[in-house]
Amino acid sequence: MSGGTCPVTGATREIRGYQAVRLAAKDHEAYSSDLLGDRDVRTFKQLPLEVDPPRHAMYREALQPWFLGTAVAVHDEAFAAIAQRLIDRVTAVGQGEVASEVALPYVMGCLAELYGRPQDLDEWISWGPDVWTAEAYARGEVTAESRAAQRERNFDSPTQRSGATLHAYLDRVLTAAMARAHDGVEPVDVWDELVRLDLGGRAPTIEEANGIANILLAGGRDTVIKLITGIVWHLIRTPADREFLAATPTAHSRAVSEFVRYLSPLHKIERLETTPSDGCPVGGDHDAHVLLNFASANHDPTAWEHPGVIDIHRPRQPHLGFGFGRHSCLGMNVAEREAKAFLRVLLANWPSWELASEPEIEWVEEGEMTFLASFESVPVTVDTRRPEPSGE
Ligand code: HEM
Repeated sequence: MSGGTCPVTGATREIRGYQAVRLAAKDHEAYSSDLLGDRDVRTFKQLPLEVDPPRHAMYREALQPWFLGTAVAVHDEAFAAIAQRLIDRVTAVGQGEVASEVALPYVMGCLAELYGRPQDLDEWISWGPDVWTAEAYARGEVTAESRAAQRERNFDSPTQRSGATLHAYLDRVLTAAMARAHDGVEPVDVWDELVRLDLGGRAPTIEEANGIANILLAGGRDTVIKLITGIVWHLIRTPADREFLAATPTAHSRAVSEFVRYLSPLHKIERLETTPSDGCPVGGDHDAHVLLNFASANHDPTAWEHPGVIDIHRPRQPHLGFGFGRHSCLGMNVAEREAKAFLRVLLANWPSWELASEPEIEWVEEGEMTFLASFESVPVTVDTRRPEPSGE
């Protein structure tokens, strides 16, 4: 059954617009998260994403300490060093592709640093931007259809999606972490800590450990890659914003917030509507999936002036890019700090990047709104022109 389609009437069921999405995101009784997403590639729930209160609070509270601003901030300089290395590499070669050669290794490098797993970096990069298309990515064959299935939460039709790569990895690392816990070895990384989490006086089951590890690897991947690629794409094309941000570090937080609003990297997510308003039956196989469309909230013209424009001077207003309410993004501090560290390094010594050719971007139209769905490729070259010598 597809996310957001009534299994009986076949009608698309989607909640759109700023106020409606906010209200639905807060109302877990009417719009439950108690569901299995990615049904084509996994059989266990991502936690805490796919449970309702009170179970939700147990998982969220257990994970929260890893994601506090203070816990993430200690990695700022390491994030900046990774950004510097990757930016310098493109500049030294004279050209590069931002999504695959900068954003992907940057985001994976930051997660390897954050999770204490430097030994996994190359393996994680080899999966590409989305854990569910790792095999197709390795063959260089991810199709627009697979990307659309992910965006639309459409898990019915056959695509290139598969859970094999991620699940083989998780089997391996979680089994090893459990053996170390059993032997009383001091925890050294995120998997060691995960299998010893305190869930109300007990350790996670293997299914729970898989569900948590799954979102730790999948949640902060394609989303942040899109954010980093989008930042570079925008700054290359908009020298005025580049100059303003280089001179005004205090404006970086607000700019990152505007990039998240505009790009809305997590376009939609599923809920189960407990009492469907359109007569769609519930129960048994007939669960009524409905989509919360975060991008539509962030581009709602009744909430935002010129929503289709990136305006880093926009008056502050909370966007819904990280969701809203209990399930709002647990990794928000990670995403924002990764973006700010990258921005700081990029602007401190602008590497004179220019677009080498027209970027390949997938746009989607939904009614009156047009969204930037994904960056296929943003090729850059280094502008080697030097200012003309003055005078004589
Ligand atoms: C720009 C990057 C990101 C965006 C746009 C984003 C977006 C979101 C959104 C919209 C939700 C709410 C889903 C819902 O209401 O059902 C969410 C939840 C979540 N995100 Fe993110 N995310 C990003 C980065 C990250 C990162 C870096 C991590 C971890 C390293 C992460 C981990 C999670 C987790 C664990 C949840 C579930 C929270 C809960 O259910 O209580 N995300 N994210």
